[in-house]
Amino acid sequence: MIQKSIIRWGILGTGRIAGDLATALQVIPDAHLVAVGSRSQESADAFAAKFSIRNAHSSYENLVKDPEVDVIYVATPHPMHKENTFLALSHGKHVLCEKPFALNSKDAESMIAFAREKKLFLMEAMWTRFFPLMEKLREILASGAIGKIQLFSADFGFRGPNDPSGRLMNPELGGGALMDVGIYPISFSSMILGTPDRITSMAQLGETGVDESSAFLLGHPGGAISSLYTAIRTDTPHEATIMGEKGHIRIHSHFWCPQKMTITLEGQDPEVIEMPIESNGYQFEAMEVMKCIREGALESSIIPHNETVSILKTLDTIRLEWGLKYPGE
Ligand SMILES: NC(=O)c1ccc[n+]([C@@H]2O[C@H](COP(=O)([O-])OP(=O)(O)OC[C@H]3O[C@@H](n4cnc5c(N)ncnc54)[C@H](OP(=O)(O)O)[C@@H]3O)[C@@H](O)[C@H]2O)c1
Repeated sequence: MIQKSIIRWGILGTGRIAGDLATALQVIPDAHLVAVGSRSQESADAFAAKFSIRNAHSSYENLVKDPEVDVIYVATPHPMHKENTFLALSHGKHVLCEKPFALNSKDAESMIAFAREKKLFLMEAMWTRFFPLMEKLREILASGAIGKIQLFSADFGFRGPNDPSGRLMNPELGGGALMDVGIYPISFSSMILGTPDRITSMAQLGETGVDESSAFLLGHPGGAISSLYTAIRTDTPHEATIMGEKGHIRIHSHFWCPQKMTITLEGQDPEVIEMPIESNGYQFEAMEVMKCIREGALESSIIPHNETVSILKTLDTIRLEWGLKYPGE
């Protein structure tokens, strides 16, 4: 296989997370951010000027047609992920798509099927999984150091703006804590315990009809239980703890960009592992995308397609319990 030394990125959307990935790409020597696309020329120009990007497109269509781009990063609100991903794939671009990958598992399945048909790489941007500390954690768990996992707890809640038209609260933009940040503890639970076979949850729905805080209990084959919660109107401790038969591992705040964990084994002093990172941490998922593209892979083994779908199935089940549907669903 011919190895391309440089992978050329295009960013679709110019919001907060788009800027974070643009910043992270600067620390990857063989990543070139060559294009950005926005719904307005003004935003595209401002973003391009900030990150020294040569091609600033006034539409997403023009971005995906840019022959200089190898891979598109979809950085729009959740309900647009499906349409934007289809657009990029249909123009022969590989795609890294923000989380939640889609509004529901059915949409995710159609995106994945299309990418496979086109023989293009597609991955959910669950950036947490690619941190060096997460890799270390997976090694420790695989070694059996803490024995069989019995319990897992994690939380991701923050006090966001109470703006009914904003992305967090507006059902038209896929609002609610579960889709925005509840997916992190659920994805973590999936990584260490697999797909749940029992799900119980409870939510406080706010005035716009979306979940402002909620809690979930996931039961896993073999008996382990995950106890998780999330919020967009309340700040929570932002920690995760894995409890096994022989000890427990605490992943310190913020567990979704993990740099410190404490391992406590029965009868031993706690061991602290710190793995600080440079930049903002989004470079690790981008490096995985580039590695997979070079290998000709269509998916990443760290967040494979079937797991992206199964995580969205968990979210579907939870929303069904609450009667929370998004417009157009
Ligand atoms: N991985 C992470 O750590 C992380 C963190 C935050 C967010 N996210 C995810 O990233 C996605 C975007 O979040 P964000 O916080 O970056 O949002 P944001 O700041 O609101 O930016 C979203 C961008 O999407 C584009 N867009 C297209 N249609 C839109 C519409 N109808 N309304 C508003 N914007 C629209 C806009 O770019 P143009 O105007 O240029 O077209 C806008 O700047 C979400 O799915 C979120 O879950 C991930």
